Amino acid sequence: MAKSDTFCNRAEAYEAHDNVPLSPPDRDTIGDIILRRYSRREMMRGTLGVAAAASLFGPTLLASHAARAEGAQDRFSFEEIAAGVDETHHVADGYRADVLLRWGDPLFPDSPPFDPLQQSAAAQLRQFGYNNDYVAFIPLDADGNRGLLCVNHEYTNEEIMFPGIARQDLICFPDMTAELVDIEMAAHGVTIVEIARQDGQWRPVLDNTYNRRISPANTEMRVDGPASGHERMKTSADPSGTRILGTLNNCAGGATPWGTYLTAEENFHGYFWSDLCATGGKPPAGLGGAQAKSYERYGVPGLWQAWGKFIDRFNVDKEPNEPNRFGWIVEIDPFDPNSVPVKHTALGRFRHEGAECLVNKDGRIVVYCGDDARFDYVYRFVSEGKFDASGHKANMSLLSAGTLSVAKFDDDGRVEWLPLVFGQGSLTPEAGFTSQGDVVLDARLAADALGATRMDRPEDVQPNPVNGRVYVILTNNKDRAAGQDDPANPRAENVFGHIIEMTPPDGDHAAPEFRWEVLVRCGDPAVAEVGALWNPETSGNGWFACPDNAAVDAEGRLWIATDQGEPWPTGRADGLYALETEGARRRTAKLFFRVPVGAEMCGPCFTPNQETLFVAVQHPSADATERYKGFERVSTFADPATRWPDFKPDMPPRPSVLAITKVGGGKIA
Ligand code: FEO
Ligand code: CA
Ligand code: CA
Repeated sequence: MAKSDTFCNRAEAYEAHDNVPLSPPDRDTIGDIILRRYSRREMMRGTLGVAAAASLFGPTLLASHAARAEGAQDRFSFEEIAAGVDETHHVADGYRADVLLRWGDPLFPDSPPFDPLQQSAAAQLRQFGYNNDYVAFIPLDADGNRGLLCVNHEYTNEEIMFPGIARQDLICFPDMTAELVDIEMAAHGVTIVEIARQDGQWRPVLDNTYNRRISPANTEMRVDGPASGHERMKTSADPSGTRILGTLNNCAGGATPWGTYLTAEENFHGYFWSDLCATGGKPPAGLGGAQAKSYERYGVPGLWQAWGKFIDRFNVDKEPNEPNRFGWIVEIDPFDPNSVPVKHTALGRFRHEGAECLVNKDGRIVVYCGDDARFDYVYRFVSEGKFDASGHKANMSLLSAGTLSVAKFDDDGRVEWLPLVFGQGSLTPEAGFTSQGDVVLDARLAADALGATRMDRPEDVQPNPVNGRVYVILTNNKDRAAGQDDPANPRAENVFGHIIEMTPPDGDHAAPEFRWEVLVRCGDPAVAEVGALWNPETSGNGWFACPDNAAVDAEGRLWIATDQGEPWPTGRADGLYALETEGARRRTAKLFFRVPVGAEMCGPCFTPNQETLFVAVQHPSADATERYKGFERVSTFADPATRWPDFKPDMPPRPSVLAITKVGGGKIA
């Protein structure tokens, strides 16, 4: 296959697939309120008057400025580290960051030792997988020294993982073999592993009944909700449309209040193949027949992996419905290693980033989800049933039925939640929807029909149970053209991203309308053209770009992980930033931790006692190392930009989860 585009790494290719804006253009663009009422230059210069800024960003911005004059107390007491990039990670003084789990580490007493030159699928299924992303900690004891760590393994970088091969999707996959594909599949999915802290040090516990590797190859899953048994869910291996082998491209996720793990299937389209486009790089018009519109809207087949070359179900010519069986939220019971994970179709099918949830004040469960693609949407699911605090199993069907809605961010500061319900509004047979199953399978097309707001790549959507608000992380969107900016996506060519804060009325997360305002516009505040918005207390090290994952600590403080990928707009490593949301220091960011060159910052996850922070360092040495001064070439297995974290000449870089603790003990602050 010769692709028409050339990419420096797979992350860039992933992004480039969003280059064609797949959602239909806004009905109401041309800068809406901002360009209607103020010139773009005024916005960039930050010369808006107080009254104008209040109407755009709400009163909190002004309140924070006013309060600042009275003096501001920093709720984050750590000493900020210097921004920069090098071969290793850095954490604030007074803290230690210990490697807890690396790609290839054993998970079971019989796991073979990791040998990067003798990899096999069988070994990988007994070892920690590749490219760790989301991390959840589910406590096993009251003092927080034992727990289950649930970790997503999002994707694989073959050129760094395997000796002797270059990146394959750029050159028709000549070196991919069935054996390598099997190893890749085994390196994807989810790890569940018990960990315990002894003498201040966290370690995996191998000899227990919980540990489990879930992969696209070996784990059967059940389908529930409106698309279960749908005609478009049926394949030759599963004529019932109710059983699916595996999960893939597990990006972020969530932990439920009843102790299960949610994993989000993100860029599923990239795993599908068609012989019809394998030589031309682009799917021919009409591929998919009756499903062509759906294929096009979801970018199926993406041809980022060679799996469909060797495995029929990933070839849409042979199994045209298999792509419909991915792109869901999957619930896993980590307490039972034999449990069958469930794909909850009621939460809709799209490029799911995460699934952060809470118990609403009326007892229903609310799950927030982003669809991580340029110009795609923010979603909310509200369960039909209510949380039962008496039992874990009693809640296992809460995500099976409820109302999925999509967000419309209005000029006047309202968020309208538009229900994706068959028969309501334009979701009718005339528009091509004949059931709720159709609606959830093509949630993107349904959201298009309702006029949802086209966002700058929604990643985590993170509720903060302490202040009652919700943070929408919008990582970037360089393809938003001048004139396509709107109040909720206020910058054209938005390479730096921004964060929106939503406020439900009276703390009711199921309400039909919220309020919203922009919390920060990312990028360097010293460069006026960037149009950044930070509290002036933010230092030259503290501002960031391309926010992605978010965590809220026990005190309700926000922590943001970044993922710049290409084009690496800051030239500084990604990291974890504390971001103040309250009071006089609202909008102040501080750099706590940074990753080695080429890596992306994932996780982050606190233990309930806030004494440990788990972070995931994904794809060290992979991204943009051509621009890394002194290295200036693409990383490979033989020649990576860093051999983090082992720094041994015969060991490739290894994606790893770290445990950050305070030296001498105590809360992370
Ligand atoms: Fe896998 Fe949206 O990051
Ligand atoms: Ca992510
Ligand atoms: Ca990302």
